[in-house]
Amino acid sequence: MIWIVVGYVSGSWLAALSVCRWSGVPDPRRHGSRNPGVSNVLRLYGPRLAAMTLLLDALKGMPAVLAAKLSGLPVWLQGLVGLAVLLGHSYPLWYGFRGGKAVASAFGVLLVLVPEVALISALVWALLAWRLRTAALASLISALAAPLLCAWLAPSYVVVVGGFSLLVLARHALNIRRLRRGEEPPLGGS
Ligand code: G3P
Repeated sequence: MIWIVVGYVSGSWLAALSVCRWSGVPDPRRHGSRNPGVSNVLRLYGPRLAAMTLLLDALKGMPAVLAAKLSGLPVWLQGLVGLAVLLGHSYPLWYGFRGGKAVASAFGVLLVLVPEVALISALVWALLAWRLRTAALASLISALAAPLLCAWLAPSYVVVVGGFSLLVLARHALNIRRLRRGEEPPLGGS
């Protein structure tokens, strides 16, 4: 139970907001896609701030999930701690419960729970984002791929990872609407 609370509270810290504040650039919630996440920081402020955001958003949930895993909690409870991190990021305790899309934080959680799935999904994301220049599409396809990879590489985590993917997909509802209208902003210059 304690790790669920720790996971939610640590997930509630949005790295993008701190990184932008430390760097003296405007709040990413006011510009671009208005999402406080890696892709919008990349779009607005370039790779250095995006890499810092990715690193910190991925790292923030790791201690709680690692503690749950090392204390030998069953897989479903480890999954609940991971889900708490993603819910914290998506609906943070601060900022009026308006957070991000939980892609980078899911990567950090997966790195602890099922590292091989995390690394392949991240590779899929990077390749797709590079080829398609559309972060949301890369995120949606990676979120769909993760439970499939899990069924192959770590079957005991497939339900847990499927749950994470559902949340990530749901958080992209606006992106899905924009993609269907052909209005999704590209990641880099065209
Ligand atoms: O990681 C979030 C990404 O999938 C979409 O972000 O800023 O393009 O809405 P954004």
